[in-house]
Amino acid sequence: MDSEAVEKFKKWFDTYVKTFYSKDEDMQLHVEVKERHTYHVCDNIRSIGQSLKLGEAELKLAETVALFHDVGRFRQYQTYRTFNDKRSVNHAELSAKVLEELGVLKGLTDKEQQLIKKAVLYHNRRSIPDNEAAEVLLYAKLIRDADKLDIFAMIVGEDENCKMVKSPELEESTRYSAKIAADILEDRLAFYEDIQTSADQMLFRASWVYGLYFPYSSRYMLEKQYVQKMLCDLPQDALVQQVTLHLEEYLAIAGDKVSGYSA
Ligand SMILES: [Fe+2]
Repeated sequence: MDSEAVEKFKKWFDTYVKTFYSKDEDMQLHVEVKERHTYHVCDNIRSIGQSLKLGEAELKLAETVALFHDVGRFRQYQTYRTFNDKRSVNHAELSAKVLEELGVLKGLTDKEQQLIKKAVLYHNRRSIPDNEAAEVLLYAKLIRDADKLDIFAMIVGEDENCKMVKSPELEESTRYSAKIAADILEDRLAFYEDIQTSADQMLFRASWVYGLYFPYSSRYMLEKQYVQKMLCDLPQDALVQQVTLHLEEYLAIAGDKVSGYSA
């Protein structure tokens, strides 16, 4: 894939997003957050790809996946006024649908189109179907890591203009589930269904550390101290301290692995 194609997609995205700009403050805020998030994810995916020494054509394809991974978010918010998939639609499926409906990817080869659509579709699943072709797996893993790194940045409020919007339906509390903590101590992704409070949600998100694929991502998380920052509002009891330490040790080991991707 060449740089001309990516530039064209970026222009398309920019124009598309602007059609959702609104005088309604709430709508505008949500559109802008997802727009900024998208650009951050584009930067992240490039950095991860470079750490794997991917070629320029592969980097461009990866960037396109990042650019479109959340393209359905705008229609989701316009229609349902929520980013909560459970209360509306699966936004990854909606993103793939938007690409399809608007013929955004035409001009690319069938193979490139399939790769992009599948990576977009898989970006928010609990896991990627393991019977997929190695190339699909690569782009799906890239977008999942790139997306998570920015979600962590949003959670800790790194960019003043791109903060995570709170879930209004969740009880604001520092009370947390011992089950989620136990999942983390056993190196398991926690379960969405176990979330009851805002503290649970934070622990749940911290457990995404186990979903990271590339050493670059683990090193990035450690450098930015995301785990510590995410869990600092929880009661600093022995269990939370143990969980924090456990996740950081896991990241240190994962970050030490040799970078390189053999498809
Ligand atoms: Fe997403």
